Amino acid sequence: MPKISVWMVRASLIYMGVGFWWGSLILHHKGVPIYPWTWRLLDPHIEFVVFGWGLLMVMGVAYWILPRFSGAWRYGDLRWGWACFITLNLGTCAGALGAWWAEPPLRLAGRLLILFAVLFFAVSIWARVKPLTTAPKLSTT
Ligand code: HEM
Repeated sequence: MPKISVWMVRASLIYMGVGFWWGSLILHHKGVPIYPWTWRLLDPHIEFVVFGWGLLMVMGVAYWILPRFSGAWRYGDLRWGWACFITLNLGTCAGALGAWWAEPPLRLAGRLLILFAVLFFAVSIWARVKPLTTAPKLSTT
């Protein structure tokens, strides 16, 4: 597993923990009201579980599992991958904070960063989406 996958999968597990925690607070609040501000966690919950957990987990596993090249650049040009990792984290946190503070410009900035992250991902992974090459069978006769 390349280092980028390790970072992405671990970060996604953190988003999962925090996102599920916020979801459970909302769920609890629906049955037994605790704090009036609990519903403000709904949009941050969605940002964290959809982009932070779901998208980052998919990307992290993709970098590991897709066909590799031979040679030093086995996983392709990972500078794009790291740019994707950074922008996706910034975008997810900006989106969640923008939702919490009710700041539409920050939410928009978060979504734009996530859009860039997806583009960086597509650029970095494009060449690795290819059929497996198999050597021609040798005749035994
Ligand atoms: C993959 C995991 C999850 C995803 C993708 C997800 C996504 C969402 C989305 C999109 C909504 C908004 C639904 C709407 O407005 O109609 C939502 C609401 C909610 N989620 Fe999650 N969620 C996940 C996990 C969880 C977990 C683990 C919990 C609690 C333990 C939870 C608790 C809630 C609650 C209480 C709401 C509000 C429901 C309502 O409007 O009455 N979620 N979630």
